[in-house]
Amino acid sequence: MKRSLAIGAAIVGGALGVAALAWLGWAWHESRLPETYSVMDYAIPDDGGATAGADHMHDETSVVDLRGPTGTPQRRFVLTAREGPVRLASGRSVEALSFNGTVPGPELRVRQGDLVEVTLRNGNIADGVTVHWHGIDLPNAEDGVAGVTQDAVPPGGSHVYRFRAGQVGTFWYHTHQASAAEVRRGLYGALVIEPRAAPRAGIGDIAVAVHTLDGTPLVNSVDGVEKRAVPPGTPVRLRLINTDNAPIRLDVGGTPFRVVAIDGTDLVGPTPLTGRTMVLAAGGRYDVAFTMPPTAVKLAVEDTIVGLALSASGTADPPAPAPGPEFDPAVYGRPSATPFSASSRYDRVFILDVGRKPGFLDGRPGKQWTINGGIYPRVPMFMVAKDDLVRISIKNTTGAVHPMHLHGHHMLVLSRDGVPVSGSPWWSDTLNVEPGESYDVAFRADNPGIWMDHCHNLSHAAAGLTMHVAYMGVMTPFETGGAAHNHPE
Ligand code: C2O
Ligand code: CU
Repeated sequence: MKRSLAIGAAIVGGALGVAALAWLGWAWHESRLPETYSVMDYAIPDDGGATAGADHMHDETSVVDLRGPTGTPQRRFVLTAREGPVRLASGRSVEALSFNGTVPGPELRVRQGDLVEVTLRNGNIADGVTVHWHGIDLPNAEDGVAGVTQDAVPPGGSHVYRFRAGQVGTFWYHTHQASAAEVRRGLYGALVIEPRAAPRAGIGDIAVAVHTLDGTPLVNSVDGVEKRAVPPGTPVRLRLINTDNAPIRLDVGGTPFRVVAIDGTDLVGPTPLTGRTMVLAAGGRYDVAFTMPPTAVKLAVEDTIVGLALSASGTADPPAPAPGPEFDPAVYGRPSATPFSASSRYDRVFILDVGRKPGFLDGRPGKQWTINGGIYPRVPMFMVAKDDLVRISIKNTTGAVHPMHLHGHHMLVLSRDGVPVSGSPWWSDTLNVEPGESYDVAFRADNPGIWMDHCHNLSHAAAGLTMHVAYMGVMTPFETGGAAHNHPE
């Protein structure tokens, strides 16, 4: 009796084992991506609760026709991407990828209303390059995403981008081909759009791109403390840009300061802060303003030796300020009218639930990121129609922070963990979503195209934390993989 029970159990166990193996084999097989595929084919369309408009889903516009304006540009730039040694401020030389031979690439400064034309050339980067204009809401064909809005530019090739500098503020640019590796290795730079009417920015207007170049922390191109001479009384605006994959913690010592803009949008009624630590999302920007005091000011990046020191002489380097309580944009500044709000009637409401589960990503087993339970490419594609008012409830149930970045639009942050934003209107393009946090954000679908919506920890994006917002009636002729070897992440 005992024996036959044992045999029975063994048979059942064996059968279960075979079934489990068969299931694993199937799951592995199902997860494998073809050499070439369109992002339109795999994702699961999500209509956000709307039914209207679904009947004109026939493809009518190609992303290649959603181009920037024609005409004579006011500003022309050439960015040449190259692999090779780059000299840092300390004199050390590192093997890097660079635009125009420096890391970061040249700081591009234009004025509001300028028609900007940038020619990208690929000198010798075997994997190909593109340029994405992070935070700039430009026409879709100029967005620089390999496999979605263009083919990656091969060595010896070039590509021209044209856009009107619409929104004043702090932005940055970076490759969106093999970006997890290529941005880390140096293919990025600052981009500032200055107001048309104001006088040209003076010596107090400083872009501060913080990066880790294959292990070496940098403030701009300085692998130490960048020192600058700023006469007392000068209005100072530091444009802080986090080009890394993880949030950075920044401290300002020697002066009270105001946070005057987030992700390229000015805040309303920013009040002076002292000793507050700023936590800046990967890909995000904070603009910090103060009047230069007679004594030195220090900006420090926590847990690194790098920073920025401003003084009348340009030689002082005060010690790093102590960290303080965290600056919270949700309660900072003064409320002000917005084109829509939490009580607006939304045409589409989406859920973007970031999770994690064991499974296969392109045939590789592991703990995979999920969006609404699906592993890439079985993630949702948020379908919208032009002029829709759209709300997204973002939720992070993982143990990692995810800086969620939407291309082509700015999101108005409505609430965090159910608590409405009570300070200045807070517009973001790269929102730091901490473990356990949830956010409600909203945007007007006013920029037709196929837009990435992804985690800006680029190694997470490359591991599947990538999806798209697609306008109905827009298609892309570009493919992931393919002859151009397009790999946006
Ligand atoms: Cu900063 Cu999808 O990019
Ligand atoms: Cu992430």
